[in-house]
Amino acid sequence: MGQEKPTILVTGGAGYIGSHAVLALQKAGYGVIVLDNLVYGHADIAEVLKVELVLGDTNDRPLLDELFASRNIAAVIHFAAYAYVGESVSDPAKYYRNNVVGTLTLLEAMVAANVKKFVFSSTCATYGVPIAVPIAEDHPQSPINPYGATKLMVERILADFDEAHEFKSVCFRYFNAAGADPDGLLGEDHAPETHLIPLVLQTALGIRESIAVFGTDYSTPDGTCIRDYIHVTDLATAHVLGLEYLLQGNSSNIFNLGNGSGFSVKEVIEAARTVTERNITVVERDRRPGDPPALVGSSEKAQRVLGWRSQYADIHQILIHAWNWHQKRHGQ
Ligand SMILES: NC(=O)c1ccc[n+]([C@@H]2O[C@H](COP(=O)([O-])OP(=O)(O)OC[C@H]3O[C@@H](n4cnc5c(N)ncnc54)[C@H](O)[C@@H]3O)[C@@H](O)[C@H]2O)c1
Repeated sequence: MGQEKPTILVTGGAGYIGSHAVLALQKAGYGVIVLDNLVYGHADIAEVLKVELVLGDTNDRPLLDELFASRNIAAVIHFAAYAYVGESVSDPAKYYRNNVVGTLTLLEAMVAANVKKFVFSSTCATYGVPIAVPIAEDHPQSPINPYGATKLMVERILADFDEAHEFKSVCFRYFNAAGADPDGLLGEDHAPETHLIPLVLQTALGIRESIAVFGTDYSTPDGTCIRDYIHVTDLATAHVLGLEYLLQGNSSNIFNLGNGSGFSVKEVIEAARTVTERNITVVERDRRPGDPPALVGSSEKAQRVLGWRSQYADIHQILIHAWNWHQKRHGQ
């Protein structure tokens, strides 16, 4: 028998991207423990994935100490955060407390327990309004909202922890996560929902009357914003590769995760009409402040260093998986 793979703590593993990463880790043979406060997560993943779910918060230091002392945890993959950009503007303290202080508490507990390998969910929101597209990792970081600022701050803390404690991390700056598990086991179910693809599909299902398109006069070919959509299963695969990169003893690193090509809001809606064969009513609205015309990332570095490849880059494929999930979730 080969040696068993180590156990990984996944914070936020009851959420959208985290649950897909748990599945990918299980498929790769890792032991997994999920820590989630279920503020936005779904308790049913424990049953669906047959995974141990510890109900708790990254701000709870005694719980973390107990967890690291009682379990042989080799590394942490950290998805737990609040991620509503608009709310981060109206209630910044909530975001700094959870995303920065909560992460700092976790990092201190890890150092105390001598667990020093960490994969972090960062975001393209740390770049702010791009000055060059596609965005590479060395693009200047200038976030335009507190959410992006909290993620940038954690990236900085991780660099300082490496210097002080030999603490090794991989930061993944994701573009727009989308799609669902190809086998239909998991999918996207945020409440409230703010992401384009689930909103469009809920409109196709008749759960929403219409989908609002914010801004049709951008400097893009059809006037609507362009975003880079990355399949959630491709994100999950990248996390396994990032973890293994650290377990092999490599130094800290930062990678974009996107598809390198963008789709406009109108293109996504048109593709959704093709996939669902349903009517999708569009309402055109004014631009929202702070929405850059185009956000497209280069993931060349993740491909070169980690050997990562996106398996589901086609927007129709992303929509087909998401549509299967939404129909199942909403009983249609
Ligand atoms: N969805 C995207 O497109 C996207 C893009 C870039 C970055 N990200 C980042 O990826 C991560 C996962 O995003 P998601 O879309 O899966 O979000 P999600 O809300 O579905 O998942 C986050 C999970 O973390 C849990 N959580 C939050 N704070 C916690 C805390 N203090 N202690 C324990 N659990 C806590 C929530 O209950 C939830 O289950 C987040 O860090 C987010 O900022 C997401």
